[in-house]
Amino acid sequence: MVSFSAPGGSVGPHFDSYDVFLIQGTGRRTWQVSSQHDGQFTNNSELKILKNFSSEGHCTLEKGDILYLPPHFAHHGAGDSYAFTFSVGFRAPEFTKLKVDFLDYLDSKELIEKIYTDPNIRPTKNPAKIPSKLIRDTNQILERLRWNQDDIHIFLGENLSISDDDQGKTTSKTIDWKTFRNRLNKGFYEVNPSVRMMYSRNYFFIAGRTFTFKKETVGDFRRIADSRSIGEPDSLHLETKKILFEFAKNNWILLRPAD
Ligand SMILES: [Fe+2]
Repeated sequence: MVSFSAPGGSVGPHFDSYDVFLIQGTGRRTWQVSSQHDGQFTNNSELKILKNFSSEGHCTLEKGDILYLPPHFAHHGAGDSYAFTFSVGFRAPEFTKLKVDFLDYLDSKELIEKIYTDPNIRPTKNPAKIPSKLIRDTNQILERLRWNQDDIHIFLGENLSISDDDQGKTTSKTIDWKTFRNRLNKGFYEVNPSVRMMYSRNYFFIAGRTFTFKKETVGDFRRIADSRSIGEPDSLHLETKKILFEFAKNNWILLRPAD
């Protein structure tokens, strides 16, 4: 994110829940920082401005300076001049969200029936009493929520490789194999900077999807994911090129911009 401030301009004291690097562009901005805050906000709850902020230190960033702020470290910046600040945040997995996402993942495996049914239930004199069959069945159904190590690998790979940009995207590009191969061999393709790629065990994850590749291509894709570069086209296995052809249709690899 890039923020602009006029002299004296400020968002107000706040904290972020992830690691942040503030990189000063043009101009100067002074930051008051504090490791302490009571978590009380002003009435404008949307912006989450801290009600009580007491500075423990300050620094003035000039062009090219970088300030690192750990998660929940309170900070309050004000422009000393017209200033642009580049803010780079690094989010870590939130386990509270991961556990909900993991249940969704298990649900997608259809381990349990969607709706409870009890066709043979008999009339009761105690309609408010929870039927023992319902308790028994619920227990049995929940016990089916099982997972193994592979599930953890696949769940994390899909969960961490998807970004907001990937949601609901479908294949979009029409391209023929011959044209693609010629361009790839000339080094015209690069990895889409906004696409996330990861791997674990025999699985390769890209944009929230899982692939298992043939043995001869695994090395190529691990290198591409680690270096975020397609590398020397001559060294790529033909099978790798065929898979990259599919990647190109999904915009996971792109033509380099013309110089
Ligand atoms: Fe911030």
